[in-house]
Order: sequence, then structure tokens, then C-alpha cells
Amino acid sequence: MTDSRPPVRPRPRPGIDQIRAYVPGQTVEAQGRSIKLSANESALGPSPKAVEAYKAAAERMFRYPDSDAFQIRSAIAKTYGLSAARILMGIGSDELLSALVRAYAGAGDEVLYPTATFPMYRIYTLATGASVVQAPHKDYGTDVDALLAKVTPRTKVVIIANPNNPTGTYTPKTELARLRAGLRDDILLIIDAAYAEYVEREDYDPGAFLVDATNNTVMSRTFSKIHGMAGLRLGWCYACEDIIGVVGRIRSPFNVSTPAQAAGIAALEDTEFQRRVIDHTRRWRETLIQRMKGYGLSVTGTEGNFVNIGFPDTPGRKAADLEAHLKSKGISTRPMAMFGLPNHLRITIGTDDEMAALMEAVEEFFAEGKA
Ligand SMILES: Cc1ncc(COP(=O)(O)O)c(C=O)c1O
Repeated sequence: MTDSRPPVRPRPRPGIDQIRAYVPGQTVEAQGRSIKLSANESALGPSPKAVEAYKAAAERMFRYPDSDAFQIRSAIAKTYGLSAARILMGIGSDELLSALVRAYAGAGDEVLYPTATFPMYRIYTLATGASVVQAPHKDYGTDVDALLAKVTPRTKVVIIANPNNPTGTYTPKTELARLRAGLRDDILLIIDAAYAEYVEREDYDPGAFLVDATNNTVMSRTFSKIHGMAGLRLGWCYACEDIIGVVGRIRSPFNVSTPAQAAGIAALEDTEFQRRVIDHTRRWRETLIQRMKGYGLSVTGTEGNFVNIGFPDTPGRKAADLEAHLKSKGISTRPMAMFGLPNHLRITIGTDDEMAALMEAVEEFFAEGKA
């Protein structure tokens, strides 16, 4: 049947036509099971205390949430030794990253970030009408010199993910400071530290030290990863009060729901649960890395709740081949083409049972064709 309706006359702003919609991590079902290792969600789910707080808050759903999110901002400030006045809550860190780019870049401006990183940065940039500029990564990590070399008079925002999704590399504290020092004062530096809690390196800092020392740097954080609350949508950013005021003016007034605020406070307090998540993640991450290296594959970095694996250019042995094999076993992983790495596969750390199933399926894949 032909569509006889007239063509749509309103046209979106330039840039929007260039956006390919974000494709989230998929789920498959095969052999009576569905194991999702494709979206960097938490293997151990949320803290039971967060679930309890969420349920208790249900009674208050007829009231608008606290627009100021005072209690959760105070809890975050206390947990990390930060100033509550410099914290802003969002519907995931995603909302805040998008609002920051929208507030500080527009038509004619450039937003700069490395290659092989989180694809949403491209969407935020094009949606504002600004142009994307990417600096090559170095060994799959942020290359400060390459970023600085790409700065032009039109650069308004620089974004780095630290640790980086999908490569699992991290940028040491001294390199962060060198990046900031090399950027003009009128360029906003966004440090997206979604996976900060998984990093146990002495030379790592999520970025609060730079926020405190400057008035043009933002650190963003999330409850989606370590706290296992991706479905509830809760994130925050830390910046000087001027920047917080700017983003605060363009966000929806009741962006963060009452149950999300309550669950977030309980999750922050449950440090024992966080420790368990970190230990579980580290244990399986190391096992997975060793296994993959044992099969002759490469691993791009070691931080985060995922492992990004590079494959040889051999027919039948590429990233897409292992992905298809795992799919046939009901295990979904994440192909990395959208992230700029067409022959890499990212695997999120799952539960003990899920990881055991993964290891078995991977072993089968490498055993096949050996005979
Ligand atoms: C690097 C990075 N930044 C931000 C986000 C968005 O997280 P949130 O769930 O807080 O919106 C993700 C989610 O996967 C991510 O990987």
C-alpha cells in the first residue's frame, strides 16, 4: 500500500538528519536461556537496601519529587567529601551530559572527543547543531596531545570518558590536569566518570580535584553501574556553581523521581554491597582477560565492568563470528562497530553462572575448527 499522505514539511535542525539512533545492548534467547552481557549493567543487581527504599517511596508517588534533590545531593556530598551546592542530579548521567553540550555548544561550534569512545557524545553534539571533531586514540586510550592538537577557535566542549567505554583504558590524574592546562579557559572540559568506582589505581582520580581547582570543568557520575540502578535512571554531575546554575535552568524541574532519590541514598550507604560488586567484577574481569589472551586475542584495557576484546582478521575467527556463536547459545555481547571498532567485541561481567556459561561457549568456539 502506498503512503498517500503529503510529505512532512517541518524539518529538524541541521545535524539531526546525520544522527543514527543509538542501538542499546541487545538480548537474545536460545537454548532456553537469555544471558545479557551487552549493556554494562551490574551483574549483582541493586543493593537490597536500595530496593527497600524504592518500595517505601512508592507511597509518595502522588507528590512531585523534591526538585532540589536536597537529601541525595547531601548524601553524595558527604560520601565523597564534596560541596552539595556544586552537585546536580539527572535522569541518568545521560541527561546531564546532553544538557551540558546543549548549554555550551551550538551551530558553528565544535565538540571534541577521542575516537573509540561512547557513541552518545556524537548524538549530543549533532543534536545541538555543533560539529563533531575526534582526536585519534593512542593504544585505545585518551591521547592528551592528540586532543590538544585538534583544538580550534571554534572548540567549545571537550569530553573524555575516564575510564573509557568501550576500551577500558583510563587517563591518569596528571594527564587530566595536563589536558585542562592545555585547553583555553573558555572551553568546557567534561570528564565522564561513569565507571569510576571500578578503578583501583593510585594514579586515577574521577576528576573532582580539577572541578575544585577550576571553573570550567565538570565531572559526571552514575548510579547505573556500580549501584546496579540503570533502569531507575539516576546520575549526577559536579561543577562550579555557575555551571550547575546553567544546567539547572534547562533541565526539567522534576527530573529525578522520588523513588530514584530514595533508592540512591540507600545505595550510597550500602558500602558493603559496593565492595562485593567490586570484588566480583575484578575477579571475573581478570579471569576473562586471561582466558581471552590465552586464545591469542588482545584486550584493550582493564578498567570497568566489561572487557573489550580485539580479534584477528581471520575469516571465521573475527569478532562477529564469536558474537554469532554466543548468540546461538543465548548469550548476547556487544559488537563495537558503533563505537568505531569493527573487529572488537565488548563483554560485560555477569553473574558466576553467566560467566561460567560464557567461558564454556567461548571454549567451544575455539575448539571448533581446530580438528
Ligand atoms: C561512558 C558512559 N557515560 C555515560 C553513560 C550513561 O549512563 P547513565 O545510565 O547514567 O545515563 C554510559 C552508559 O553506558 C557510559 O558508558
